[in-house]
Amino acid sequence: MEGKRIRLIEPVVGAEEEKLIGEVLRSGWLTEGPMARRFEDLFKAFVGAKHAITASSCTTAMEMGLRAMGIGPGDEVLVPDFTHPATADAVIAFGAHPVLVDVSLSSYNLDFNEAEKAVTDKTRAAIPVSWGGYPLNDKELKDLKDEHDVLMLEDAACSPGAEYNGAKTGVMADITAFSFHPRKSITTGEGGMITTESDDYAEKIRSLKNFGVGKVGTESHFIRYGSNYKLSDILAAMGVAQMGKLARIVERRIELAENYNKLLSEVKGIKPPEKEKGIKHIYQTYAAYIEVEGARNKLIADLKKIGIETQIGTYALHLEPYFANLKKQGDLHRSKLLYENLLALPMCHTMTKSDQEHVVSQIEKHLKNYQG
Ligand SMILES: Cc1ncc(COP(=O)(O)O)c(C=O)c1O
Repeated sequence: MEGKRIRLIEPVVGAEEEKLIGEVLRSGWLTEGPMARRFEDLFKAFVGAKHAITASSCTTAMEMGLRAMGIGPGDEVLVPDFTHPATADAVIAFGAHPVLVDVSLSSYNLDFNEAEKAVTDKTRAAIPVSWGGYPLNDKELKDLKDEHDVLMLEDAACSPGAEYNGAKTGVMADITAFSFHPRKSITTGEGGMITTESDDYAEKIRSLKNFGVGKVGTESHFIRYGSNYKLSDILAAMGVAQMGKLARIVERRIELAENYNKLLSEVKGIKPPEKEKGIKHIYQTYAAYIEVEGARNKLIADLKKIGIETQIGTYALHLEPYFANLKKQGDLHRSKLLYENLLALPMCHTMTKSDQEHVVSQIEKHLKNYQG
């Protein structure tokens, strides 16, 4: 076991992806086309959404979502501080202003009570993130939306398959954006998907991603601003193959997470992620909290030396130079704590129980050493 390389994540790709990509290459149609439509139909059925629309990434999916909602200069959009920069970048892209809000120490997701305090007469939308695969609280989301007339765009980059008391990620918010970056549960290399129940948003997004094309009578014309955020059929072929594996990948990740929970419950100085009853957390990231002060970064470096790949959870945006001057709600101290202390553990589908025992025993050994 000593010296065996254990990766943070590995894409689950093989013969099915090769076969479908081959079909696209031989078809002569390489840009977005029939394979993207197949991918959308499969994703739509998986989530139970009315519309699913491919995009070039989750970031561009969010940009288009905000644009379709009519968000623009002067508008404020509530964003959790503990997230990937893309969540805030999508807001800035069209001249709107992100307002950074703190998160919960148990779910690592947006604290909806704090979000409510941040609402002003300029607030038009919020982008709660179902972080690492932990679903959003459906009721809290709807309360904020209905009581304050705030449009909801969920950043579900990490969460296809997650559920909150039966409410599926992908249908809770007005618009939901997913990512297929290789660190996600399923991947197309780079890619994204938007789901929505709204015919109006769907029509606008399909147009925005395709240079602003739309119908005037029966003819196609350019009827609004647009860009090129399409997903090539070569990548969509990967998506179609990956959809056949998604349910199994999610089950495997839950199995690995439950085993980590058991193993870590015996270890001092590290707290496994919490999970409310009735939710389906899909563990795109399995992030445990290191309680030994200053140990998290040392642990990442020391584990790397023996071939175990780990990572931080994600960023506290207010600590990054580009986002430091954005409007903030409160002191964002919980986001800072998570940024400094969360450790993402390896979650490869190929991991064995003994790999997991090795990871946990090395964490335990190093944590003990740091404390003397
Ligand atoms: C929460 C979150 N949002 C957005 C993104 C960006 O996704 P993409 O790389 O597909 O643009 C990521 C990527 O890691 C993410 O973790």
